[in-house]
Amino acid sequence: MENILEVKSVSKSFSGVRACENASLSIKRGSVTSIIGPNGAGKTSLFNLISGAISPDSGSILFNEIEIAKKHPHQIARLGLVRTFQGAKVIRRLSVMENILLAAQHNPGDHLWRVVTPRVRKRFEDEARERALELLKQVGLTSFVDSYAGILSGGQRKLLDLARAMMAQPTMLLLDEPFAGVNPALVEKLVEVLQSLKAKHDLTFLLVEHDLETVMNISDEVYVMAQGTVIASGLPNSIYDNEVVIDAYLGTRRKSN
Ligand SMILES: Nc1ncnc2c1ncn2[C@@H]1O[C@H](COP(=O)(O)OP(=O)(O)O)[C@@H](O)[C@H]1O
Ligand SMILES: [Mg+2]
Repeated sequence: MENILEVKSVSKSFSGVRACENASLSIKRGSVTSIIGPNGAGKTSLFNLISGAISPDSGSILFNEIEIAKKHPHQIARLGLVRTFQGAKVIRRLSVMENILLAAQHNPGDHLWRVVTPRVRKRFEDEARERALELLKQVGLTSFVDSYAGILSGGQRKLLDLARAMMAQPTMLLLDEPFAGVNPALVEKLVEVLQSLKAKHDLTFLLVEHDLETVMNISDEVYVMAQGTVIASGLPNSIYDNEVVIDAYLGTRRKSN
């Protein structure tokens, strides 16, 4: 199975507005794939469809050959497909460790949680804490473990968000604008962290991102969306030279910036 994710002709409308129209993607296992496109192109909607936040009007989404189009986000996450959000939220008055442990809290299932013995519970919490520490180390936040999350910079919050997503032990991560609002020095650091997490955990990445330079640097493949549909895909270089893309995306970008 070369492709970990297959999105086939997915459509979704919101009271007449076509957010996605016959959008298709094939994501190779172990790759970094980026989706670019102007505002309103349907990128976030496509992420919402893949992660189960909304379900498509038509089309199919296969993750490891399992149909997930009608599944709930927690079911999809349990299969190993986890997303982070545009504008990562942290609870400022909790510590970095507490923020990351919140993500693991419900793992055994709430109904089970009530009947487990204190000893089992303690073992689960110790194990979660250990894993959290290891992940915080992998993203470079060890020195902030006990700090309030509120003191973290925008870039550091993205690192925390990554560690938090990793608590679910995903095989594939969907990252919505991971570099937005991060200062350029930290973008490089973030890219390094993504690459080392990818190597360590055999991850596949799908990102939506506006920072074209970074997209071109880190992606194995790029998809371009406009008006709800995929208008081009290929190697980063081929995208840059594609007339249709320049018109639909780079053109608008030039106008809007
Ligand atoms: N929940 C929603 N309700 C109504 N319209 C929506 C909703 N989500 C997205 N849309 C519309 O779908 C289109 C695509 O939006 P979006 O997926 O956010 O694009 P992008 O992330 O590429 O900027 C836009 O026209 C947007 O207004
Ligand atoms: Mg968006």
